[in-house]
Amino acid sequence: MTFESAYGASMSRRSVICGLVGLGGHLLLPSRSRAKTTDDFVSLDAKPGMARFLPQSPTPIWGYGGTVPGPEIRVKQGGEVKARLVNTIGEPTTIHWHGVRLDNAMDGVAHLTQHPVEPGKSFDYRFTAPDAGTFWYHPHSHQAMQQDRGLYGLLIVEEPERIAVDRDVSLIIDDWRLNADGTIETQSLGHLFDAAHAGRIGNLLTVNGQVAPILPARAGERLRVRLCNACNSRVLEFRFENTRAQIIAVDGQPISPELLPDDGSFVLPPSGRADLALDLIGEPGSRSTIREMTPRQPIALAHFGLADTERMRDKPLDSPVTLPRNPVPVPDLSQDPLVFTLLMEGGAMGGMSGAEFEGKYYDFRELAQKHRMVWAFNGKAGDHGRPMFTVQRGRPVLMRITNDTAWPHAMHLHGHHLLVVSRTRGIVKPWFQDTVLMQPREEMTIAFVADNPGKWMLHCHMLEHQMAGMSAYFEVL
Ligand code: C2O
Ligand code: CU
Repeated sequence: MTFESAYGASMSRRSVICGLVGLGGHLLLPSRSRAKTTDDFVSLDAKPGMARFLPQSPTPIWGYGGTVPGPEIRVKQGGEVKARLVNTIGEPTTIHWHGVRLDNAMDGVAHLTQHPVEPGKSFDYRFTAPDAGTFWYHPHSHQAMQQDRGLYGLLIVEEPERIAVDRDVSLIIDDWRLNADGTIETQSLGHLFDAAHAGRIGNLLTVNGQVAPILPARAGERLRVRLCNACNSRVLEFRFENTRAQIIAVDGQPISPELLPDDGSFVLPPSGRADLALDLIGEPGSRSTIREMTPRQPIALAHFGLADTERMRDKPLDSPVTLPRNPVPVPDLSQDPLVFTLLMEGGAMGGMSGAEFEGKYYDFRELAQKHRMVWAFNGKAGDHGRPMFTVQRGRPVLMRITNDTAWPHAMHLHGHHLLVVSRTRGIVKPWFQDTVLMQPREEMTIAFVADNPGKWMLHCHMLEHQMAGMSAYFEVL
């Protein structure tokens, strides 16, 4: 099925969606309900469920609570997240709390920070959330397969003070590779072809588990929109029509507000988040559409349908929205940083001759055929046997990364937020990020303070790349 046909089919869903809006728009917003256990843990029950992306054919998925996305968890900054993973998917799983600078034992990386949770078993996650912002959770065990089937959800950490917006709206975006009958195309899940190229790119996009939803809104309204890219490997480029958009946070960390030009767009790599203050400047009765601009034919992801009533205010607001800073340490590079050099190699058209896997060197062909590995960090494919480096707690780290491949990569750091110091193929922004998109053949220097003890992963968040070798860890002592 081509993308166009899948999308064409989905367009007829609009009429269904309009009906739902008539019944009550809240049906289209992510569920905020929490399945509470008796001891105050949010229950995150990983289990099979059914989604309805196409009008005729239901899609069997895996989801927390059996839904896509899973419940949106909300906690106040400095508060405790208490979540109980219950595994009923028939294979081992874990939950990773992406972007949260948490206790290493709660990081959820199978075999590195915890034993995978076996089918029928459960695991209690309990940690403090130090930063206010937009975070998310997903498995970190067979992640490419499990997240692809729908296991993910948002974790919102609220600022202590109310932020001056009319409403807070979360949009978690995913792409799916579906068969014509609506089922997930699983034959190619984990195949080496995707792994060696751009990863698994789907043929249908969803927002909060809905195809092109129409979200009820009002002319003149100011929204805080939280975007999260939950695609396995697709880079998303957003354009916001009929709005004034300021970016106010990236990867959960506030930035000084940046107004998007009218024809401007904003790129989010897989796993990236952005918060925007969106002023709906359209007329009552009109629509503001969010489009994904990377395909030749841009795709309408979602629409704000402005009610046909009076505007909310005479003139849309145009003041900046500034969020309070989080307590992320700023690396001071005059303080004897540990300097680490990382060479990324492999993939199609990469020219990698071979790499080490589990202590043994293989040429590229053998590495791919025998071990299903096609990428390497510093000559090692998916090395989890020992850390790339160790560093004393509190020391700044300066990492020089060379992407010597023909592909972009979404480099993700666990437990810390990094600053880009320099790069050869993009603009350096003064933003704390947990995932940075590197361009093909780009060289980049990043810095962070290694202030969180434990074993932390550094990997590509294009999940097929991660699975096929782009994954390693370091240890903070
Ligand atoms: Cu979003 Cu290592 O993960
Ligand atoms: Cu990658």
